[in-house]
Amino acid sequence: MISVSCMFALGLLSSAAPGSGLPEAGSLSELRRLQRDFGRDVEPHSSEKSERFERSAGLNEQTCRAALPGAESNLRNNTHTFTFTLSTVSPLWLAWVGEGSGVLLVLTTFQVPLFMMLFGQSNLYRSEDYGKTFKDVTHLINHTFIHTEFGIASSPDDSGKVILVGEVSEIGGFRLFSSQDFGLTFVPNDMPFEPLYQMQFNPRDSNILLSLSITLDLWLSEDFGGTWRKIHDSVCMVRWDLNNSIYFTANYNGSCNDKGMLELRKTTDYGQTFQTIATRVYSFVLGGKFVIASIMSGKGTERMIHVSVDGGEVWNMAQIPMINHEQFYSVLEANQDMIFIHVDDPGDSGFGTIYVSDDRGTVFSKSLERNVYTTTGSDTDFTAIKSLRGVYMTTILTEEGTMETVITFDQGARWQALRPPKNSHCDTDTSTNRPHKCRLHIHASYSTTLKMNIPDLPHSQPNAVGLILAHGSVGDAESALSPNVYVSDDGGYSWLLALKGPHHYEILDSGGLLLAVEHTNSPVNQIKFSTDEGQCWHTYNFTSDPIYFGAMVSEPGSRAMNVSLWGYRNRKKVVITIDFRNLFSRDCTEGDYVEWLAHSVDPSGSDDGCVLGYKESFLRLRKDSVCWNGRDYAVTKKLWPCPCTVDDYHCDFGYYRPENSSECVEQEEMVGRPLEFCLNGTTEQLQTSGYRKIPGDQCEGGFQPDRKETDLRRMCTSNLLHPYSLTETSSPNAAVIVMVVIVVLMMSAVTGVWLVKKHVCGGRFLVHRYSVMREHVEADKIEGVDDVDTQYMETGKAQYNEDSDQDLLE
Ligand SMILES: *[C@@H]1O[C@H](CO)[C@@H](O)[C@H](O)[C@H]1NC(C)=O
Ligand SMILES: *[C@@H]1O[C@H](CO)[C@@H](O)[C@H](O)[C@H]1NC(C)=O
Ligand SMILES: *[C@@H]1O[C@H](CO)[C@@H](O)[C@H](O)[C@H]1NC(C)=O
Ligand SMILES: *[C@@H]1O[C@H](CO)[C@@H](O)[C@H](O)[C@H]1NC(C)=O
Ligand SMILES: *[C@@H]1O[C@H](CO)[C@@H](O)[C@H](O)[C@H]1NC(C)=O
Ligand SMILES: *[C@@H]1O[C@H](CO)[C@@H](O)[C@H](O)[C@H]1NC(C)=O
Ligand SMILES: *[C@@H]1O[C@H](CO)[C@@H](O)[C@H](O)[C@H]1NC(C)=O
Ligand SMILES: *[C@@H]1O[C@H](CO)[C@@H](O)[C@H](O)[C@H]1NC(C)=O
Repeated sequence: MISVSCMFALGLLSSAAPGSGLPEAGSLSELRRLQRDFGRDVEPHSSEKSERFERSAGLNEQTCRAALPGAESNLRNNTHTFTFTLSTVSPLWLAWVGEGSGVLLVLTTFQVPLFMMLFGQSNLYRSEDYGKTFKDVTHLINHTFIHTEFGIASSPDDSGKVILVGEVSEIGGFRLFSSQDFGLTFVPNDMPFEPLYQMQFNPRDSNILLSLSITLDLWLSEDFGGTWRKIHDSVCMVRWDLNNSIYFTANYNGSCNDKGMLELRKTTDYGQTFQTIATRVYSFVLGGKFVIASIMSGKGTERMIHVSVDGGEVWNMAQIPMINHEQFYSVLEANQDMIFIHVDDPGDSGFGTIYVSDDRGTVFSKSLERNVYTTTGSDTDFTAIKSLRGVYMTTILTEEGTMETVITFDQGARWQALRPPKNSHCDTDTSTNRPHKCRLHIHASYSTTLKMNIPDLPHSQPNAVGLILAHGSVGDAESALSPNVYVSDDGGYSWLLALKGPHHYEILDSGGLLLAVEHTNSPVNQIKFSTDEGQCWHTYNFTSDPIYFGAMVSEPGSRAMNVSLWGYRNRKKVVITIDFRNLFSRDCTEGDYVEWLAHSVDPSGSDDGCVLGYKESFLRLRKDSVCWNGRDYAVTKKLWPCPCTVDDYHCDFGYYRPENSSECVEQEEMVGRPLEFCLNGTTEQLQTSGYRKIPGDQCEGGFQPDRKETDLRRMCTSNLLHPYSLTETSSPNAAVIVMVVIVVLMMSAVTGVWLVKKHVCGGRFLVHRYSVMREHVEADKIEGVDDVDTQYMETGKAQYNEDSDQDLLE
């Protein structure tokens, strides 16, 4: 059985790596008139449309009318099987090396107890053809045992650098095997320390490596592991930013468990000089342009979020509630514009409140209450949809005590329930007369903690515009037991039941090809594929001898055409790779694309599609076009500004939007209180009519509410960053935002390190971490193979990465 292969991918810092950013704008010369052939909310009045719905009614059969001619024999000629001579229980790690190189490294490693000792064994395999064939290259690492914690580290750029850390019993130490040629050859180097977890590549220069030792010393190599220099001791957690700077928490009393007593330090010159940028730190996160730290208030166990947009030189205290030691903060998202933070409610409620920030990360507004987030498992359904800007989904616990998926299309300004799926059973069944039964509920991380039968989390890709694949149910017991696969082709506005029952799924060719394999305990021999964004599915029997399925793996970035199905049969691991390239007899041409207006809900309205101050139209592949987008496909889009409306504003500090309302209303507890906060050392008074523009919003003219920050010319300081000055100069009942200046060197452009959490595979979370990991994995080309069955999983790894797993500022 293929087991887990989760990698602790600290090298991931590069959220700017290819494939993970926003769709690029391209040449827009020959845009066609907008043709809305993508059924969004439109009733299926045209006969063509209702036919489409019929044949896509979620049947797992070959439901497509027009079968693809010759598909079967074509795919058969392009199916490759490779059998490993490995026992089925050894866990397996996969790493893609470089983009488009086709190089895949597979590491198996297991330990068997022998005479009270652990005897470890590793095997390394290498493929140059996207997994069609593998060579055993274990000799390249001289049969050294590679620890599961270290796995394979592949550089986040596409330079083909790979690192393996092995344990050499003869020397009683550790040896680094590094390759600069896509794993063709490895150079061994003995290491002067024992690493705690995987090395971190500098995202700006993959020759520079960072590693923490088990004695909490921080080591740096500037020559790709040739020589190492110890740059600091007592280090708890360390991160690269995107500008060659290293941020870390240090502890001088010997224990990293002593959270709240840590120092946040940074170095911009690879450890020649250091600055302390904050003290009394509980934890920190780098994300977008922000450095975010939770810092003890100096009064008991309370702590508070502080944010810096200049690399820790100036900190402002985020104006969100303080929390005590039983609660936690979680940075759900931090991009160049703003921050989403979840603040756990007091008590063990299992939910909390999402706050969204302004562009300084200082003034926060309440965005969503009752967001479900388990305290113990640290799991939430909060999901950023990568295929359309401004879209996020999560699950709330309603007042009635039911779970409900809600979605926002404008970066958290307003949330709404999902529309019922178009072709779902329940919306035609009027007999039930219970409308809420038909609400679509999307399952993400939280559902996996409930041990629901969900093999993959919601999946979207920046280059597959508008497309989302997700498991969901419609509120009845039957569909909750066996969730179905739903597809949205418009970024979450409308949903279609695509496949009945749980499936593993994958997006290929920038959305031109979708793949699915049924999730079942029985052996499988069928793969389903769709060339029309999930409306109709073809099946292909990829083998006559079914396999116990483990995972579906394709090159990150969704540009590939090869997919590998990992599993086992006859007690041997087997990988079956299918090349779908020849399924498409031609490349896509101009006529295969139509213009599509994103966020369009009312085609007759003049402000249709206006979200965050602009309209955006994309060229998208027609659903009925069967052609190859190609590896070099770039998303083509066009933008227009919109006049401002109330929808371009978050409710300001002290205001909120009642449900179903666009107006912002003053929070009761704030009425009559002065809205004051501390910025740059002096008290500012905020005069607001309740609205503040959403960060990144580009609207022009139109609705321009009054908003003024007046400097009251009263000094203010934070009592938080300086432990010994406990004076508070601002008026006691004013809501106060405090900031403090600590002089350090300038920096900016830090990155989304909070994603690292998702890469961490600590013991019990292994199973459901896998899919999340895959989602965010593009940056470092690391891929995992997992099985639904936990029995073969590595356990006992939790201790080494515990700290990193708490990366969400808990
Ligand atoms: C598949 O391969 C066989 C023999 O190798 C060949 O005769 C047949 O034409 C091929 N089919 C396709 C669709 O390429
Ligand atoms: C491989 O390991 C053996 C002993 O385990 C050692 O004698 C030999 O020198 C090593 N070879 C290389 C290339 O490291
Ligand atoms: C270290 O611990 C001592 C007492 O054990 C305490 O007084 C001191 O403040 C601590 N220092 C830091 C930096 O936490
Ligand atoms: C494909 O496999 C299924 C069983 O999984 C079988 O029922 C079906 O007949 C096969 N189809 C073809 C064309 O071989
Ligand atoms: C699929 O794999 C083959 C090698 O087996 C490679 O030549 C081809 O480029 C791959 N296709 C894509 C789209 O990556
Ligand atoms: C909000 O609107 C929805 C649908 O229009 C309705 O079911 C719900 O009761 C409304 N909520 C409030 C508080 O008015
Ligand atoms: C803070 O003050 C400095 C100089 O006193 C000024 O350059 C800077 O722009 C101010 N920052 C803000 C956010 O007002
Ligand atoms: C990177 O840091 C240097 C100084 O350390 C600074 O001058 C530069 O502007 C920074 N670049 C970015 C993109 O933040």
